[in-house]
Amino acid sequence: MPYDFTTIYDRHGKDALAVEGLGKPGFAPPTPKNGFSAIPMWVADMNFATVPTIPAAIIARASHPLYGYFLTPDAYYDAIIGWQRDRNGVEGLTKDAIGYENGVLGGVASALGCLAAPGDAVLLHSPTYIGFTHTLEDNGYRIVHSPLVQDENGTWRMDYADMDRKCKENHIHAAIFCSPHNPCGRVWERWEIEKAMDVYRENGVTVISDEIWSDIILGGHKHIPTQSVSEDARQRTIALYAPSKTFNLAGLIGSYHIIYNKTLRDRVAARSEKTHYNEMNVLSMHALLGAYTPEGRAWVDELCAVLTENVDYACRYIAEHFPGVRVAKPEGTYLLFLDCTDWCAAHGKTIDEVEQAGWDVGVAWQDGRMFHGPCAVRMNLALPKSLVVEAFERLDKYVFNA
Ligand SMILES: Cc1ncc(COP(=O)(O)O)c(C=O)c1O
Repeated sequence: MPYDFTTIYDRHGKDALAVEGLGKPGFAPPTPKNGFSAIPMWVADMNFATVPTIPAAIIARASHPLYGYFLTPDAYYDAIIGWQRDRNGVEGLTKDAIGYENGVLGGVASALGCLAAPGDAVLLHSPTYIGFTHTLEDNGYRIVHSPLVQDENGTWRMDYADMDRKCKENHIHAAIFCSPHNPCGRVWERWEIEKAMDVYRENGVTVISDEIWSDIILGGHKHIPTQSVSEDARQRTIALYAPSKTFNLAGLIGSYHIIYNKTLRDRVAARSEKTHYNEMNVLSMHALLGAYTPEGRAWVDELCAVLTENVDYACRYIAEHFPGVRVAKPEGTYLLFLDCTDWCAAHGKTIDEVEQAGWDVGVAWQDGRMFHGPCAVRMNLALPKSLVVEAFERLDKYVFNA
């Protein structure tokens, strides 16, 4: 293992929402009771140091003490083209199909702005990433959920008939497709994406495909870019990517879209550029250049192996120790979405009591209701394994088998 995924970094005093945000108003968990350290398992960033080529690239640029207006070099586009080719098998991507986005959610807002008017309905799957909910509500769109359903093996699946019906009933022409899916952890298979794209095509729906998690794929699975499943999908889809989730760079900001359809691309660009806010930052640009390197590729491979081990450990632990807690093992992302319905019924407890019991002992997990899981908790497993083990031992002793 050439890279370090075991050091426990103290993030206090380093502006980290994951630790400094605890107990603050909003959606953060409360601080633990005295005597317990906080284990940050909520906001979706990682407690790992990023690949060293990223700070090296930032420091190299920062050491030249002039930070004036800058031009985006071809190296930036070439890095993205190379990354998409090597990681996602994307051929034929050219510079003009790539555009900067100030955050993936910013890209979602810009894209929706040219696809729907306030008050229009937009199709999303539920459970739903809370960032989508806020972005749509804040901008006046009407969210129509198509619930994912668990099959006989517990695997989350799309309900194509429901999607089709909701598109028709609500005159929907814009959808958000989250691939891999936060919080359910599905890495959609090609046939599933094809069927979804058939529904979207038949209903004249343009698709915003959020693929921010596309690099975080767990053992044995493969990410299929939405645009790759057919020529129609390539033309119908606004795809959003970023190095931020992959390399723990959320604090630097810097995402990008891939849009092959020229009309769509011009509409999205018009929407985002006219704000005059959608500008790249020179240091985050160098971060991407440091990320999309051979070292970055090796680091992500190792990261995914570490996360696979954490997820395997957690799911095994739950199956062996927490009867009544159900979880569909994630295939991508580092998020667990625990369904506590049966456990709560068996123990006469509410989900509030379960969550509070975890928070009290420093397991800073996240209320699943904000992702539309009525009796669910979301857990981030992107921590050194020793902390994941510590969290599960506390859950065993103080929450599920207290
Ligand atoms: C599916 C999904 N999209 C977007 C984001 C946020 O992206 P950004 O910080 O680039 O807006 C997240 C963060 O957790 C996410 O899970």
